[in-house]
Amino acid sequence: MEVRFRDSRIDRTKADLLVLPVREKRVDTPEVDALNRRLKGHLRAQIERSKFTGAEGSALLYPSAGMLPANQILLIGIGSASESVLDSWRTAGARARKDSAAQGAEEVAVFFSPESDSEAAAAALIEGALLAGYQFNKYRSNAKGSAQPKFLTLFRPGLKTAGPLLRSLHQAQTVSAGVFLARDLVNEPPSVATARFLGEQAEEHCRGRGLSTEVWNKKKIEAMKLAGLLAVNRGSHEEPRFIKIRYQPARRSKKKIALIGKGITFDSGGLSLKPPKSMETMKLDMAGGAAVIATMSCLPKLNLDVEVTGYVPTTDNLPGDNAQKPGDVIRYLNGKTIEVLNTDAEGRLILADALALAAEQKPDSMINLATLTGACVVALGPRVAGLFSNHQPLADALLRSAMDTGEKLWQLPLVKEYKDMIKSSVADIKNIGGAHAGAITAALILQEFVGDLPWAHLDIAGPAFAESESSLGPKGGTGFGVRTLVKFLTSL
Ligand code: BES
Ligand code: MN
Ligand code: ZN
Repeated sequence: MEVRFRDSRIDRTKADLLVLPVREKRVDTPEVDALNRRLKGHLRAQIERSKFTGAEGSALLYPSAGMLPANQILLIGIGSASESVLDSWRTAGARARKDSAAQGAEEVAVFFSPESDSEAAAAALIEGALLAGYQFNKYRSNAKGSAQPKFLTLFRPGLKTAGPLLRSLHQAQTVSAGVFLARDLVNEPPSVATARFLGEQAEEHCRGRGLSTEVWNKKKIEAMKLAGLLAVNRGSHEEPRFIKIRYQPARRSKKKIALIGKGITFDSGGLSLKPPKSMETMKLDMAGGAAVIATMSCLPKLNLDVEVTGYVPTTDNLPGDNAQKPGDVIRYLNGKTIEVLNTDAEGRLILADALALAAEQKPDSMINLATLTGACVVALGPRVAGLFSNHQPLADALLRSAMDTGEKLWQLPLVKEYKDMIKSSVADIKNIGGAHAGAITAALILQEFVGDLPWAHLDIAGPAFAESESSLGPKGGTGFGVRTLVKFLTSL
């Protein structure tokens, strides 16, 4: 889908589908009037009949019957401007894309009102339209997919294809490509998307100006004493990998950020085996790692002057004959020890290595993403990620970035009194807490490995994988986190 900008009047714009976003209870715009005049009053009459008010999620499709250069008109309700303005433009873009596919429209023209006249609004609208077009058809034998629009034109009288709009387009295309990469990696079957495969994908996608990727094999991981990753990998026939991606800006960097992603390519639970139902979607368990790889892949195109290092420890978690056992103790490179009482609490075991390693570089902030706990899904549901942080300014910055991108984050507390729940009788800590507050105790375990550095942990167990279709994409991997991370890095 090619995106273009046009200086054009609404009643003179040619398209298969002409989309006009309408704010709630604001159907009296000059644009609706202009269309209505050409449609001899029939549009207003239809608006009355259908009770279209511009409420978010509502829409009105109207054929122009040869009275306009556009074949069909689609009014999209984008709700009131009081909530997240950017998100309403993103949803409008997604809706335009979906409905034009449903109508078989090849040329879609969206009125880009002066109200939305900001770089960010344009980027959100285009991003929505791009994200909504994602499909994963690699494993379908009849993979034609639905018809997709060829052109998306943003138009308005006086609109110029100038620098700011082109920047928005570039931004939206870059971040959408990143989200698609993360989705693809998650959607790939787990016997294909092994640790080795993730390493190869990182090497393929994370190179170019300022970016370099290193993939450590098992021997190197042993030499580096990444004990948690090795312990989890013991039950598998696949070698583990440790992926390290560095972005070094051309200009002197203002800040140094570490991104860490959980890369469990399949989580069977290990010897503490999961029941079959819980295993069905466990290829999702590298979604944090996928988000980190995908975010890193965007950086050369964004030209940011931030130094960023991505770390992705990756292996599957299987109950092979050499698997780690409940009761085993892992000794980490920072000297800490963890007693493994449940091999299904494996994410924290591999993240501990990566956090300790990242902390050695003394970054200004460390952010990890992990599909870490079912408890977080119980607490916040499938659409919201949990945010934990030892540094409120970092948490606030992430919450702001998430708000702008429409990804939902909610901060949960690091309750230090709950540290009692992870006390072990033989080691420094154990890898599970008690019956309650599972998302918090998991976060407290991670915190043991970050020292005093500003750190944030995003538990994305819910939103990493969509159990049903949403406006921005189909069932499956969502690429959650990529947009927030890119936004956060851009805002530094
Ligand atoms: N990968 C899972 C968490 C998960 C659950 C992600 C549901 C996505 C959807 C994680 O490794 C896990 O198994 N966690 C356990 C921890 C428990 C054993 C302390 C859990 O949440 O049950
Ligand atoms: Mn697990
Ligand atoms: Zn897991």
